[in-house]
Amino acid sequence: MSSPRYYVAMQHARSAQPMRPSEVQLREVRPVDLPRLYAYESDPAWCAMAMVKPRSPEAFDAVWEKIFAGSAMGETDVLQRVILADGEVCGLIGCRAVGDRCEVGYGLGRAFWGRGITSRALATLLAEVPKRPLYATAAATNTASIRVLTKHGFVVEERRTVLETERHLAREEVSLVLW
Ligand SMILES: CC(C)(COP(=O)(O)OP(=O)(O)OC[C@H]1O[C@@H](n2cnc3c(N)ncnc32)[C@H](O)[C@@H]1OP(=O)(O)O)[C@@H](O)C(=O)NCCC(=O)NCCS
Repeated sequence: MSSPRYYVAMQHARSAQPMRPSEVQLREVRPVDLPRLYAYESDPAWCAMAMVKPRSPEAFDAVWEKIFAGSAMGETDVLQRVILADGEVCGLIGCRAVGDRCEVGYGLGRAFWGRGITSRALATLLAEVPKRPLYATAAATNTASIRVLTKHGFVVEERRTVLETERHLAREEVSLVLW
């Protein structure tokens, strides 16, 4: 990952305070957030935990162009929120239509892991999104993600082995549902 925006954002992430934030909030995603969000999801540790392959900057930008265009046209099949911890952009959470399901997803920059931030962000998202059931999928090895979900009432629906895709590595994965 030699992109300058990767290094700028990772330096910023490393300077974050190693403590639980007093405030966790969600807000809409702005184009100015994208370099930092890209840096977070390009971290090899992030990819290893989620068992995904890193995306090229072009692929990332194309996804966001589509999301911004859809939201400008009033489409509601994707809802994404930046997670702010004491005002600092530390990650992303949201839900999107996958077939006829609404799937929740999230991820934080590595410097913010283990401070209870995603748990609090998910509580806020669930209060904002009334739709049920909601679904989520995690690599079976992603204990932290599965714990975040089960703490909020998601239950394991299925465990399966999936082949490699353009985005995911071959993996054991768990599918969860919130009724
Ligand atoms: C998974 C991820 C979102 C968790 O976010 P987080 O803010 O660190 O999670 P929290 O601090 O809210 O912790 C949630 C629970 O998981 C536990 N946990 C956190 N990190 C853990 C780890 N590495 N191993 C085991 N449990 C862990 C916490 O103890 C907590 O449980 P508790 O409330 O019973 O103590 C974060 O690690 C991440 O962004 N990873 C990379 C991207 C990713 O995997 N996204 C999810 C794809 S499905």
